[in-house]
Amino acid sequence: MPRGFRNYAHVFRMAGLFGIGIAIFLVARWILVPADFGRYGFYRAGALKEIVAQPMAYAGHESCAECHTDIIDQRKGTKHEHVNCEACHGPLATHASGDVMKPGKPDPKTVCLPCHARMDGRPKSQPQVDVKEHAGDALCTDCHKPHSPKIQ
Ligand code: HEC
Ligand code: HEC
Ligand code: HEC
Ligand code: HEC
Repeated sequence: MPRGFRNYAHVFRMAGLFGIGIAIFLVARWILVPADFGRYGFYRAGALKEIVAQPMAYAGHESCAECHTDIIDQRKGTKHEHVNCEACHGPLATHASGDVMKPGKPDPKTVCLPCHARMDGRPKSQPQVDVKEHAGDALCTDCHKPHSPKIQ
């Protein structure tokens, strides 16, 4: 080694460590990143098949309307006309497919609050009430019909 390089040994050691680090990174990347990653962009292509294979939870609004035409009529022209059935009733694909014929009803103590309890960040256009002040200990459904909520 030329005389002038004698004091550079630490630099080569450092470069060597970097080299080893990069090699470990490349090997780890090769082991850990799935082979089909990146086929459709920054995404694991096989995930699509896995998601499609999951059982359906929500039946969708149209399916409820096929059988429960009476409820559709009750809601017509009310402010709840376009609130999806499953927003309150929860996912009911097993019911719409005929597997579960007694799906149960939403819990009247909690069902209205996610949309109507007063919150500072909520847009003013969404009707909201101070629950304690407005209802006390009464249930919302003691006074409001969920499928036609305005009290005439
Ligand atoms: C294939 C027809 C069919 C579809 C689709 C369907 N239902 Fe039903 N549903 C019924 C029948 C039949 C009953 C039992 C009879 C009854 O009480 O009305 C029932 C009962 C219910 C009940 C319980 C009624 C009670 O008195 O306990 C609820 C709540 C309900 N359905 C909501 C829904 C919602 C929400 C959807 C859409 C996700 C839906 N249903 C889709 C036919 C259907
Ligand atoms: C805003 C929340 C909400 C929405 C949206 C909603 N429901 Fe309900 N539904 C309820 C509640 C709460 C009850 C229970 C009422 C009770 O126990 O008196 C109920 C009861 C029912 C029942 C039992 C029969 C009855 O009249 O009490 C059926 C059937 C039903 N809903 C179907 C539907 C269908 C179909 C849709 C969509 C077209 C829908 N619901 C949308 C809250 C809702
Ligand atoms: C998934 C959200 C959601 C849930 C849950 C919900 N609502 Fe609503 N509600 C709405 C929306 C959206 C409107 C209409 C806002 C608008 O267009 O002004 C509304 C409007 C109303 C109004 C005003 C009616 C009018 O004609 O002025 C009342 C009262 C009401 N809801 C009561 C209830 C009650 C009682 C429950 C529980 C049984 C309930 N809501 C559950 C979304 C919801
Ligand atoms: C003692 C009867 C009673 C009870 C219980 C009750 N309400 Fe009301 N609510 C009313 C009356 C009366 C009105 C005014 C008439 C209307 O808009 O339907 C009203 C209006 C509303 C409005 C419309 C407010 C607006 O700014 O337009 C909402 C939203 C509402 N109630 C939600 C609820 C919720 C959520 C509960 C349960 C925590 C509940 N109410 C319980 C009687 C009641």
